[in-house]
Amino acid sequence: MAQIGIYGLGTMGSALALNMAEHGFDVAVTNRESDWIAPFISEAGDLAARLHPYTTLAEFIAALTPPRVILFMIPSGAPMDAMIDEITPLLAPGDTVIDGGNADFHDTRRRTAQLAERDLHFVGMGVSGGESGARHGPSMMLGGSAHSWQQLKPVLTAIAARYEGAPCVAHLGPDGAGHFVKTVHNGIEYVDMQVIAEIYSLLRNGAALAPTEIGALFADWDRGPLKSYLVEITARLLSYTDPETGHPMVDVIKDAAGQKGTGRWTVIEALRMGQSASMIEAAVGARGWSSEKATRQRAETILGGAVGAFDGTPEVLAEAFLAARILAYAQGFRILASASEEYEWSLDPATIARIWRAGCIIRSALLDDIAAAFDQHLPQGQLILAPQIAQTLARCIPSLRQVVCSAMHGGHPVPALSAGLSWYDSMRLGHGSANIIQAQRDMFGHHGFERLGRSGRHHGPWWD
Ligand code: 6PG
Repeated sequence: MAQIGIYGLGTMGSALALNMAEHGFDVAVTNRESDWIAPFISEAGDLAARLHPYTTLAEFIAALTPPRVILFMIPSGAPMDAMIDEITPLLAPGDTVIDGGNADFHDTRRRTAQLAERDLHFVGMGVSGGESGARHGPSMMLGGSAHSWQQLKPVLTAIAARYEGAPCVAHLGPDGAGHFVKTVHNGIEYVDMQVIAEIYSLLRNGAALAPTEIGALFADWDRGPLKSYLVEITARLLSYTDPETGHPMVDVIKDAAGQKGTGRWTVIEALRMGQSASMIEAAVGARGWSSEKATRQRAETILGGAVGAFDGTPEVLAEAFLAARILAYAQGFRILASASEEYEWSLDPATIARIWRAGCIIRSALLDDIAAAFDQHLPQGQLILAPQIAQTLARCIPSLRQVVCSAMHGGHPVPALSAGLSWYDSMRLGHGSANIIQAQRDMFGHHGFERLGRSGRHHGPWWD
């Protein structure tokens, strides 16, 4: 009998199955297109002994030790609902169905309630780290019942990435908690990627550095406080040459970025909860603008595409990058705190930071400091209030300011860097400018306002 079943032998499903087999678990596997199964088993080598292939759903389910645990690694959305309808009649009370894809957490909440009616458990699990993470150690964010966590803990703890021995997996809360945390993880991932792209562009177009020189700079940064997976891979990818043309590889890649939705969902949910993830919005928006290549080419001939020199040193850029990275995490964790309150998830930000320290795409040296910062209670999950984080910001913000000013002066687009700086500047002012907004609202719509030092609702003399 198998301890766990994996349905879906695409890139992530196969890698997770091999990872589990390598850690000594017996895994039942199947796939909608049954002709994928035999090649997967034949390429598994010695691990095939622990992989048990089935072509029908009934045989696959029958091979699992009850209460069963079935991990679906299939496209999120309609295919998951179709699978739930198909599999539910074959399951028994106490069984757990896991969606390991990048699902919308609203769907996860709905599916949890749907399966609970039959005493079945539904788990929404965020899995980060791409193919190599899934194969050798992903970071996993689990939302579901305590019963499911007990069933899954041995296998997930064994296959997870490790940070100084600690497994990067945790039960974060019920129903949609895991998928929501993964969604915000991806929102932060979008910002980190965008900030790297903005810095690359300043160095390339404003300081005339070659891709290999920029790559060397990133490689250097990867040895200090900016150490992270995304910096590491950027350093590497900038060293490649296109074998066909001999040009730097980045120069032959079209400047139009794709997106599958998680970044956008983060922004939508933030706004819905009365928050603003302005850096994530900037990163999502920049991908949108990037896809309008034809318009940009036309606009360049009409509006002019010349940019000025960028005069920041690598040291200044590195500090600006660190400040921006802190601010992106701060916005992400603020959204997590809002959602935790709204959905009563009791998310623990320190645990989330800890399981992001290895395995996932946004793993970075900074996350260890963030985890330590969240060990103390920070009102509303506001990372910028942590003394050690505030100290780093105080040191690095002048550089972020210098970079944004120089970039804007030269006409370089820096949507994420500038959004971060404006958010920081808004949050550090105990007295802002929303009194004007309130006066306007009252004057045109009789909305009323709160008055400093007095309770109750007030109106301006313009109504007397
Ligand atoms: C991860 C990644 C992964 C995937 C996303 C990226 O954590 O391993 O986030 O889930 O790369 O789909 O999203 P986009 O395709 O929208 O960039």
